[in-house]
Amino acid sequence: MTTASAPGKIILFGEHAVVSGVTALGGAIDLRAKVTVQDLSGSVLIKTKELTLQGFSLDLTSGRLESAQAAHATRYISAVLREFDVKDIQVCIDSSLPLAAGLGSSACIVVAAVAAISAHHGLCLSLREIAEISYRLEKKVQQGLGSPMDTALATYGGYLQISQDIKPIDLPPLEMVVGYTKMPHDTKSEVEKVQDLKKRYFDLVDPIFQAIGALSEKAVPLIREHNHADLGRLMNVNHGLLMALGVSSRELDELVYAATGAGGAFGAKLTGAGGGGCMIALPGHAGVDALMVALRQARGVPFKVVTGCEGVRLEGDL
Ligand code: MEV
Repeated sequence: MTTASAPGKIILFGEHAVVSGVTALGGAIDLRAKVTVQDLSGSVLIKTKELTLQGFSLDLTSGRLESAQAAHATRYISAVLREFDVKDIQVCIDSSLPLAAGLGSSACIVVAAVAAISAHHGLCLSLREIAEISYRLEKKVQQGLGSPMDTALATYGGYLQISQDIKPIDLPPLEMVVGYTKMPHDTKSEVEKVQDLKKRYFDLVDPIFQAIGALSEKAVPLIREHNHADLGRLMNVNHGLLMALGVSSRELDELVYAATGAGGAFGAKLTGAGGGGCMIALPGHAGVDALMVALRQARGVPFKVVTGCEGVRLEGDL
């Protein structure tokens, strides 16, 4: 039996613009997905437990599906099993990340599965190979759209600046509060919507992308200098630009206003593709608890996260 775990992520700045090669800044968080593989003769069985779901299991050999929600994680795990031509196996997923919430749950399932299978079958893949294979597989399941941000953060951890290439960047941890809207979102359709807007109104959308890229660059020294007041201001600007691109929602905006109003946050923005999913807030002088209360009162599900956490790792034999 072999277990690997990989972290989820938040995008601090630059979602959507990164798809067009503009700089984004993301951090791995202290919520992880664990994937355990073990030999199971004559069968391929996938079992999973999620933060927001009942556990479910799927017997790929018989096609028996115990929950409709199983389909999501199963698509990614099946792609990994096909890549390595693995049969006779049981794969157990134990994730503390909500699905389809913009926190990179699919990427960390893929990365942890690739790492677990690599170790279980003695393939000795390097981190670079794990990141490349995982990105290719995630992209295939998502039909071609998307940046390598999620799979790279799940693999390497820490903070990454992504534009044409992926650059690890050494920054101190940040304590943030995530507000989950409980509305699932569809990354592919949000990305398509923004890319379509860009195609039709390049002269309007490109300057927004460039401004978002500038925010990703300007945030780095602020994080390094612990200048949270200014960092929060930049988050608010980034949220406004994402609203302009049409990827926010009433639920996300309500959580952002609750965070910066009653919650006293220095700043807040949606994170990930938008349309639902999660927002992030940087606690202000009122502290984390006031922020959590404000988000709960605005009908969100708040949880604390720390950024800059460790990437994929083997958990050892259980
Ligand atoms: C999704 O987490 C972030 C997007 O920028 C898409 C991507 O980078 O793949 C919207």
